Amino acid sequence: MGKATHPFLAACRREETPYTPVWLMRQAGRYMEEYRTLRAQHDFLKLCKNPDLAAEITITPVERLGMDAAILFADILLVLEPMGIGLEYAKNGGPVIHHPVRSGKDVDALKEFSPEKELSFVYDTVKKISRALDNKVPLIGFAGAPFTLASYLIEGGGSRNYVHTKKLFYSAPEAWKRLMERLAGVVTEYLNCQIAAGAKAVQLFDSWAGCLTPADYEQFVLPYSKAVINGLTPGIPLINFSTGTAGLLKQIRAAGGDVIGIDWRINLDEAWKTIGYDIAIQGNLDPVALFASPKEIKARAGEILRRAEARPGHIFNLGHGVLPETPVDHVIALVDAVHELSSR
Ligand code: CP3
Repeated sequence: MGKATHPFLAACRREETPYTPVWLMRQAGRYMEEYRTLRAQHDFLKLCKNPDLAAEITITPVERLGMDAAILFADILLVLEPMGIGLEYAKNGGPVIHHPVRSGKDVDALKEFSPEKELSFVYDTVKKISRALDNKVPLIGFAGAPFTLASYLIEGGGSRNYVHTKKLFYSAPEAWKRLMERLAGVVTEYLNCQIAAGAKAVQLFDSWAGCLTPADYEQFVLPYSKAVINGLTPGIPLINFSTGTAGLLKQIRAAGGDVIGIDWRINLDEAWKTIGYDIAIQGNLDPVALFASPKEIKARAGEILRRAEARPGHIFNLGHGVLPETPVDHVIALVDAVHELSSR
């Protein structure tokens, strides 16, 4: 106590900060050689389940790149594995769920489990990271939002059109409701356990909510994200993140969150005006911009900062995760540019 609030946490609360804090989604990942080296020796799920290695992967980019927040190394799909759906991270390509949920019967067959007991490796990682960071940099915990988790469960992996997912809520709304209530309960408990273990903020990833109509979001998604957000331990900022949701910002705001995360498909000033200045905002550089020259990266970061108008409550981030081939030097150039250009 007595220490000034860290800029990242102050920005979540829309307090004045000496500069705009920056962290990047997927800051711990394949674009870093340190990660690739560890990954060559262990499969992805093994890394997630080993608190020593997961803590190391979390901390490396914070120290090496000068980030203002750490994000837990884990994955949004870890909460689905104990449901007995056969989660696998395929060698080349994304995650696969071998027993997808396609009917009310499938929903009812999902295994009940205790997120507190069966995901304890995640909380052990959170504790290790918190001890190592020693309050110098806040740790962000995270979970998938019920909709994005449901989309993986139902499609069996990534998807382009979400046909099975939408078909379930069109044709079996009662089964959809049972599934979403179940996911909301699991995610709430999971996030609260991360908070109890030391996470100082949490982010809800609703990465694929942008495929929905505003009315479908309101009816089939919003109540469950809202239930998660309202069920969280008070006093811990929540970042409500999604992509492709420029046309859903009012609904996303209604779902809740202290901070709304936006992608690059909308200008930050327009998004903030729509969301309302009484909520903080996170974003929104195109991850591909990190493949441009450091000079161009700095110009584009400056453009986003200009749109934020130094208003309290802006957290700089990409609009989605760092891509695997991104040059590490360019990430460092971005972090330095944000700090330099926003210094006040
Ligand atoms: O941000 C971070 O640095 C923390 C770690 C983190 C991972 N996944 C590690 C990961 C976080 C926050 C996530 C979230 C996540 N996972 C999301 C939401 C964010 C987003 O990108 O939209 C989603 C949809 C997933 C599901 C997932 N996990 C996919 C689709 C994939 C395969 C595609 C990909 O990017 O590799 C994963 C695997 C995954 N999650 C990796 C990492 C580092 C790569 C695993 C490997 O090393 O092969």
